[in-house]
Parts: sequence; structure tokens; C-alpha cells
Amino acid sequence: MAEAYKIVDHTYDVVVVGAGGAGLRATFGLAEQGLKTACVTKVFPTRSHTVAAQGGISASLGNMGPDDWRWHMYDTIKGSDWLGDQDSIEYMVREAVPAIVELEHYGVPFSRTEDGKIYQRPFGGMTTEYGEGPAAQRTCAAADRTGHAILHTLYQQSLKHSAEFFIEYFAMDLIMDEDGVCRGVMAWNLDDGTIHRFRSKMVILATGGYGRVYFSATSAHTCTGDGGGMVARAGLPLQDMEFVQFHPTGIYGAGCLITEGVRGEGGYLTNSAGERFMERYAPSAKDLASRDVVSRSMTIEINDGRGVGADGDHIHLHIEHLDPAVIEERLPGISESAKIFAGVDVSKEPIPVVPTCHYNMGGIPTNYHGEVLTKLNGDANSVVPGLMAAGEAACVSVHGANRLGSNSLLDLVVFGRATALRCAEVVDKESSHRPLPKDAGDAALARLDKARFAKGDTPTAALRTDMQKAMQSHCAVFRTEDSLQEGIGKMRQIWSGKDDIRVSDTSMVWNSDLVETLEFENLIEQAMLTIVCAEDRKESRGAQARDDYPDRDDENWMKHSLAWIDEKGAVTLDDRPVSMQPMTNEVQSFPPKARVY
Ligand code: SIN
Repeated sequence: MAEAYKIVDHTYDVVVVGAGGAGLRATFGLAEQGLKTACVTKVFPTRSHTVAAQGGISASLGNMGPDDWRWHMYDTIKGSDWLGDQDSIEYMVREAVPAIVELEHYGVPFSRTEDGKIYQRPFGGMTTEYGEGPAAQRTCAAADRTGHAILHTLYQQSLKHSAEFFIEYFAMDLIMDEDGVCRGVMAWNLDDGTIHRFRSKMVILATGGYGRVYFSATSAHTCTGDGGGMVARAGLPLQDMEFVQFHPTGIYGAGCLITEGVRGEGGYLTNSAGERFMERYAPSAKDLASRDVVSRSMTIEINDGRGVGADGDHIHLHIEHLDPAVIEERLPGISESAKIFAGVDVSKEPIPVVPTCHYNMGGIPTNYHGEVLTKLNGDANSVVPGLMAAGEAACVSVHGANRLGSNSLLDLVVFGRATALRCAEVVDKESSHRPLPKDAGDAALARLDKARFAKGDTPTAALRTDMQKAMQSHCAVFRTEDSLQEGIGKMRQIWSGKDDIRVSDTSMVWNSDLVETLEFENLIEQAMLTIVCAEDRKESRGAQARDDYPDRDDENWMKHSLAWIDEKGAVTLDDRPVSMQPMTNEVQSFPPKARVY
């Protein structure tokens, strides 16, 4: 190592990494139960990406019409294209109702109906009567700033419970012992350059998704999959990485999100002929079909020459026909975004939109308690002691091959809380910590040091752009064998380019060049896993749309993919079964059937 780093040591019962919806819900849930908890986060908590979730959070409250958690369960399973685990899905949709009541009591300023109940809007794929009835109004909204409202409320609750925060600390690597037990995490304080070793009985990763693997993404620049990267480097598998959601309505060019709530409020899409083309693709749900279906339909329209704009490469989203009072009350945020990022007055002109990378269904495999799973001696449900994950970083799997809109905020709060509850059962506050392995943290520091003094010729940003373009061209909405193989070839070249990285700034204080280099390592590991898994899966299911294998193949592919990556970028593949068994006997298993909207 070029430098000897002085280490500041900390000891906690639990360390949570990440302060978005899942991280904060876990943090104060733990503090509430008297567990000594630290929350380590690279951004100030209220700047976490949860703040960008717009349209809402699902729960079968039935405030705006009949609803039932079983219908929500069915819709989620159908949305997942039967890759979601039915026990976890039952857990989530049942917990949804108390979770919303809890959020309301914590102070989330939900929009209201005339009679004072929480306002709920329709969202894609959410139906009644197991898909036979009309669209469900199930998505609870705080105008179109629901994530913002929830995130601020959860942070206030964390402060109320005196949770301890380590803000603007970048988590670099897990501390694993020789028995495969997670014993803590290494972090770098970006503000003063010090290195911190957090020893704990449990680490909860709530670090969000890795959307920045793609060139155009609704995800913040901070969404670099840091938790997934740490897990992969610890020699553990990631699950279902091929399933990446493209949101139908990212603003053309800028990539910013325009909520599905726009279509929930009556907005619709048109092609260059002014045709409402979704009527052809999803005669029943139309513009409110599931996201993967809408994104594919838009892409087909564009590819078949019916896109709008000078280059015919995007689609129009209309809300000019809506009552201006509705826009002002329920969609104020997107009106502002459309003005700033597309120069459009939504009351007069359509918004130019295009499918944009939005969400990772795959991630760190967990059960519905949030315990991280690996496959050991053929057992795909082996719990990794000392390690949990929640939120977009995790793959529970409640979203399977495709997530329904507004099930993400729900996933954050339900499984953030679940990890806290599980910790209360399995973490013994009274027991003393075992001594750390002698080399605890050495690997993290060696990696930091190598990146810090990297003297090659390629700036990290250049290599990152190459990766984002390769992923966008070869592993986006539609995929084929030839294109995936070409993409894997490019990714291998980009991987070898890591040896030639140059980091110009060697300081330890607010060194964004170095942070981005460490983030890039997290990104490229997950990009490689994504494209290799996409090539391996020879079927179309949810967000994995293979032109060369257009049908779902339940006989051979109704299974979760597991994938490991080594330091050379070589990927090892395996699988684990989908749980078709619900959690209780109050509902029956939903067997697979054709997925039409
Ligand atoms: C949206 O409002 O469309 C995004 C929310 C989500 O992805 O669930």
C-alpha cells in the first residue's frame, strides 16, 4: 500500500448502510427497540433517491372503491410474470395497509379525498377481482411528490428516536470473517478523509439500485449499487440481475421521471400519427398496462417508424385535456419538470417521453425477513449470518421479472421495518462482540489505495460512459443473442480497461474522482452480471424481452438466476426455485397463466 491509513473504530449492534426509505425505516425501527444502531450514508438522508419517487405507494385501503389484499397479491404476481416469490408477496401486500396507517400517523402529508380519506389513484397493472374487474385505485399519493413526503417523514422519525447518523461516509466493503459471517463494514468519511471500521452484529444494506449502469436513467447519479458491489466482492451471489425495468415515461433527452400517476390521472400516449397506440397492445388496460408492456409497445412504435420528433425517436404523453385544477393539485411536480427539462407547458403541449432505465428488480437475494441468502451445498436458502438487505438493493423477490408502479415505496417501508423486527429477534444486545479478524478492513483499504494512486491513461468517467453506452445499446428493452454477445464482448474490453484508469486527485477530502472510481467498480460488476444473465436466460419474461425467444418458458426458466463474479470479471451462474407457496393458508397459490392486459 502506498499509504498507511489510520483507522477510527466503532462498535454497534447494527449498522445500516443507506438512508433512503428502507434504510431510514430500518434505522429508527432498530433504535426504537433499543438496539445500538448506526446509519452510514454517502448522501444527506433527505437527498437519498427515494426523494424522487413521485406517483405513490400501493395498499388495498379501498378508500376510492372496493379493494382486497388478495387482488393486490394477484396483480403483483401477474406483474412479476410469475417470477415473484408468493410468500414474500403475501407478506408485503398484507403489511401494506398497516404500513400506510403508520406513515399517516408519523406525519406523511397524503393528498385527501373530499371526505378526508387518503387519496388513491390508479396505477399500471393494479386491478380488482383478480384482473377481471375495473382498474383499482390503490396508489396512495401525496400529490406527485410521495417519495419526497415519505423520506422527510422517515428522517424526522429517525431524529425523534435519536438514531446515530454517519453522513457523507462512503461504505467501501464488508468485513467478512473466515466462517463467512459478516462482522461489519469499512467506510470513508468524505468530509475529512478519515477511515472508519464499523464492527457490528448485523449489517443491513439499503443502498438502492444500480440504475447508473445505463446511459439514460431516471435514477440519481448516486444510484451506483454500492451494496450489491460489496456483496459481490464478498463472494456472494446476486439474483435476477437480468431484470431491469424501463419506465415508459422518462423525459426525452434528460431522462427525468414523469410519473405513471400522469396516466393514472387520465394522461395518454400517442405516436406520430396521433394514434393512441396502447389500445392496440393492451385493449383492456391501455395506457395503464404494466410498465414492461408499455415500454415495449413504445419501443416497437419508434422502431417501426411511428415515433415523434425530428428523428422519430420518442413518443408524446398528453395531459393538455385534463382540468388545470387537477394538474395543479395532483401533478404540480411533473408540470415543473416538463417545463424545466423539456421546455413544455403541459396544459398546452404534449411531453416528449421515451422508455428510460428506472428500477432493478434483481439484487441481493433475501427472504422476507431481509436476511441475505446464498446457495451452500445445494441449499439455496442458506442465510448469510450477520448480513441483511432491504429496498431496491435487495431481491426479496416481490417484483420478480417486472415491478408494478407504486410497489417500490411499499417494498421500502415494509421490508425496512421487517429487517428491524428480525434484528430484534436475532441480535443479542447483551452479548459482547467477538474480536474482529486480524486483517479486518485490509482488503478495502488496498482497493481504496489502488484506485487512489491509479496512474493509467483513462479517466474513470470515460470508461463509465463506454459501459453505459454498451449496456444501453445491447441490454435495454429488447435483447437478442447476437446483440447480447456483442455487448458482452464490449463489456469484457471495458473491464480490462480498469487496469488503465487514471485518478488525478489523490486527496482524501471530497475527492469526487476517487468516489466515482469506487462507484464505477460497483457499477461494472453489476453491469457484467446483468448482461451475462440476460444472455443466459433463453426466454421472454417481464422486463427480459428476447426477440429470439419471444415466449415465456415456465418449464425451463421459472427459476431465479443466481450469479457470482470474480475479480477478473468471470461470472458463475446457478439458480434457485421460485416460491409458489403463499405465506399462510388464507390464500391459495396463483398458478402461472398467460399475461395479458
Ligand atoms: C412513478 O411515479 O411512476 C414512479 C414510482 C414507482 O416507480 O413506483
